[in-house]
Amino acid sequence: MKLLEAVSLNKRYSAERGWFTHKAKSVQAVNNLSLSLEAGESLGLVGESGCGKSTLARILLGLEKPSSGRVLYRSTDYTDWSHSKMRMIRSNMQMVFQNSLASFNPLFTVEQIIGEPLRNYGAGKAENLREVVADTLDLVGLEQRHIRRYPHELSGGQQQRVGIARAIALRPELIVCDEPFSSLDVTLRKQMMDLLQELKHGLGLSYVFITHDLSVVSRLCDSVAVMYQGGIVEKQSGVHIMQQGSHPYTRTLLSSVPVQDPRLRKKV
Ligand SMILES: Nc1ncnc2c1ncn2[C@@H]1O[C@H](COP(=O)(O)OP(=O)(O)OP(=O)(O)O)[C@@H](O)[C@H]1O
Ligand SMILES: [Mg+2]
Repeated sequence: MKLLEAVSLNKRYSAERGWFTHKAKSVQAVNNLSLSLEAGESLGLVGESGCGKSTLARILLGLEKPSSGRVLYRSTDYTDWSHSKMRMIRSNMQMVFQNSLASFNPLFTVEQIIGEPLRNYGAGKAENLREVVADTLDLVGLEQRHIRRYPHELSGGQQQRVGIARAIALRPELIVCDEPFSSLDVTLRKQMMDLLQELKHGLGLSYVFITHDLSVVSRLCDSVAVMYQGGIVEKQSGVHIMQQGSHPYTRTLLSSVPVQDPRLRKKV
């Protein structure tokens, strides 16, 4: 069963007319892009800066409308749904940001941050809410004593865990992660990858991982889509792309990254 489908998506941003340019230029951020994600699949989305990854993520989450094309969730077309109608499926799709701290309300405690989606979607009463927050804290490896802290009182790794906890609080089916580990050091990155892997198996999550980091791709992703200038130029299994990626951009990407596992190194 397809969880998510994007069909012939286009997104064009019109730019302001500049001081020295007479013609207003526009940017084609997403260009005739089609993609699908099976339930339980984790899909890596790689590509150079500015190729349209975050724009695609926002369209998939219904935060932005495409200029043309369709998006479907479990075969239901939600492309033209209003913000309020989107609530019906938004509780099943959550997002983890690159810098979780910037996405938190600084006046909220950890309990309020994790509880926010539960309150927004009316999931349960106050006592129940506290229980779900406590369980979620356990799931992401934070201690109960962290519940009363404010985000600035946590380390970067703990903040990312709170970001993940907020995303899984409603037990969604899909999590879209936009460069979730790029602000973390190597050790924390590994811990976070292990955590997301555990959550994938424990909660049966599907993921879209936007990343520049091919170690994330090879460890966490069942399949990888390579994006270039707003379109998908190649989609393969995680292991195949490391060995047989054929698009020139994929090859450049692979050649610039040291791959630890010799079996995954591309033969030149
Ligand atoms: N709201 C907007 N208005 C105008 N142009 C935009 C807007 N959002 C994105 N763009 C443009 O669309 C293109 C794709 O941007 P996007 O943020 O999706 O890239 P990205 O692949 O996520 O890049 P990065 O890896 O640097 O995060 C860029 O040229 C960007 O300048
Ligand atoms: Mg981006």
